[in-house]
Amino acid sequence: MNTVTINGKRVTPKAEPDTPLLWVLRDELGLTGTKYSCGKGLCGACTVHLEGEAVRSCQTPLSAALGKKVTTIEGLSLHGEHPVQQAWVALDVPQCGYCQSGQIMSAVALLAKIPHPTDADIDQAMNGNLCRCGTYNRIRAAIHRAAAAT
Ligand code: FES
Ligand code: FES
Repeated sequence: MNTVTINGKRVTPKAEPDTPLLWVLRDELGLTGTKYSCGKGLCGACTVHLEGEAVRSCQTPLSAALGKKVTTIEGLSLHGEHPVQQAWVALDVPQCGYCQSGQIMSAVALLAKIPHPTDADIDQAMNGNLCRCGTYNRIRAAIHRAAAAT
C-alpha cells in the first residue's frame, strides 16, 4: 500500500518512504499551511493529524502514514468554519501566525478526546506547541470558547 489519504483524497506520493511527512505535504503536495520550524520535534509548528492523533510531521516518516488518513490545516474545513478556527478568529489569537496551524491542529485533537477540557488539560495537551509571540493565554481562551460552542 503506497497511498495516503490526505484531507479525504487518496494520493500516491513519489517521495522515498523515509522522507518526513512534512516535506511530502509541503513540497510534493503544496500543502504549505503546515509549517517547518525546528525540524526536530520540539516546537509543534508542523503538527498534523495521523488517524486523528496529533503528530509532528517533521518526525513522521512517510512510511508511517502509508495506508492511513492524514489531516492538515487545509483539511479542517473549506472556509475556516471549523469551531476551533472560528474561536481563533473571534479572539484574534494569532500574532505573527507562524505557529498557529500547529496550535489549531493540536487543539482540535485535544477537543476530540476531551470535549470540555480544564486549563490543566489544555496546558498538558498544548505543552509541545511553542509560540514565540506568547499567544498562550488567547490560545487557552479560544479552546474554551470552541468547547463551549460544540
Ligand atoms: S518543525 Fe516539527 S516539531 Fe518543530
Ligand atoms: S503567533 Fe507568532 S509564533 Fe505564535
